[in-house]
Amino acid sequence: MNSPLLIHPKRIAIDGPAASGKGTLARRLALHFSLPHLDTGLLYRAVGAQCLERGALEDEAASVEIARALDISHLNPEALRSAGIGEAASVVAARPGVRTALLELQRHFAAQPGGAVLDGRDIGTVICPDAPAKLFVTATPEVRAQRRFSELEGRGEITSLETVLADIRKRDARDSGRSDAPLAMAEDAALLDTSNLGIEAAFAAALSLVEQALRA
Ligand code: C5P
Repeated sequence: MNSPLLIHPKRIAIDGPAASGKGTLARRLALHFSLPHLDTGLLYRAVGAQCLERGALEDEAASVEIARALDISHLNPEALRSAGIGEAASVVAARPGVRTALLELQRHFAAQPGGAVLDGRDIGTVICPDAPAKLFVTATPEVRAQRRFSELEGRGEITSLETVLADIRKRDARDSGRSDAPLAMAEDAALLDTSNLGIEAAFAAALSLVEQALRA
């Protein structure tokens, strides 16, 4: 029989730009391995949403205070998925004080004994640099814009494909260009381009890469 000491926690770090498919893959992987999952974008979205509510998006000190007080047991994913909140999230996420305030709770979530799946922009590089399995999920901006457009349309948000593509490009530039924890692929991450993959094919590819990494 295996000694429990030999069972390594399955920590799975998934990063990638907006609408790359990383969230869906993270959820599916968590279900497959029966692991808890944290969509870390929701943390930044929750901070961005509260800043918008207070009319304080430009107030850096207020955003840091909101991030410090964030209670992750009370996040409402559905209410946080709008395009406006995504944009506000990306603004507050560029502030080092906000990132520091959210760091420990993400590391604490990742440190659960059996492991965990986290997805975001800096999971493999900053939050869990020692995760045994890291994926960087990407797709072309055009494919991502089409996916996000369909998602927003399904939620009844009125927009155009051109607007969504412009938003995606703007968010990519801000997320990759910020000085603190920019969106970047960890050196030891496996790259998965989902541009030409449906969800089942993308999941099969992600699972195979993760299983390979966990065996190594
Ligand atoms: O993934 P999602 O689109 O929900 O993330 C919203 C924003 O939160 C991103 O554009 C990014 O600026 C920020 N974010 C981040 N680091 C993470 C997760 C999200 O900076 N780990």
